[in-house]
Amino acid sequence: MKKLMAANWKMFKTRAQAQQTANELLGLIDGKLPSDREVLIFPPFTALSEVAEAMRGKQGCAFGAQNFYPREDGAFTGEISPAMLKDAGCTWALAGHSERRWVFGEDDALVGEKVAYGLNQGLRMILCIGEKIEERKAGKLSQVIAEQLQKGLAGIKDITPGDLAIAYEPVWAIGTGEVAGPDEILDAHACVRKELAEILGDTAMETPILYGGSVKPDNASAIIALDNVDGVLVGGASLLAESFSRIVLA
Ligand code: PGA
Repeated sequence: MKKLMAANWKMFKTRAQAQQTANELLGLIDGKLPSDREVLIFPPFTALSEVAEAMRGKQGCAFGAQNFYPREDGAFTGEISPAMLKDAGCTWALAGHSERRWVFGEDDALVGEKVAYGLNQGLRMILCIGEKIEERKAGKLSQVIAEQLQKGLAGIKDITPGDLAIAYEPVWAIGTGEVAGPDEILDAHACVRKELAEILGDTAMETPILYGGSVKPDNASAIIALDNVDGVLVGGASLLAESFSRIVLA
């Protein structure tokens, strides 16, 4: 299973900035990317074509969308469809990122619809899950993980290994500089793997589980080395090519 080194640029970067960062990043990792790693970039929609251009002909790289609406087309002002994203060259998409859940009010049912619809349309999906600090303090970590996975994967039937990944991102560690400790990551990822086995059977072992939440160049290699950690999803530290290249090669 390849390790997925994913950059989530959120609502940052003009087209020119995206182009520059992507080119610089690809230059920095050129010839150094281990064959068992894949680089994914999730730029804002407006910069998809610049990232596509930068990645043209490059091995081990792909890009995708941070969000979409799970319909083919229609009167959905402000939304974008998987078909449009594929037309722009996207092969991946995120669903259930904590900012979608907690800033924009997306619930597990909508997240589940997105995962199922995206897969059905031929996108590879990263389902993001993670507990809030109150939930962790109340001892509800495994309950939250189980629920978000069950509902997030409710609509899927047969899954082709490689089409689905999970990102475990504790909400309290996103953008806060507070990274989960090794034991916390080990525990949570073991719990995700166990729950995935119940939902997906054997495919669970071939489903990458990424960690996200304040991953930086200086903690990336220790995180990547942990059991059941098959990659990282990086926000802040992915915005600069230099820092993200150090994470990718960590
Ligand atoms: P962060 O964001 O690396 O800035 O904590 C991670 C994410 O939101 O995916």
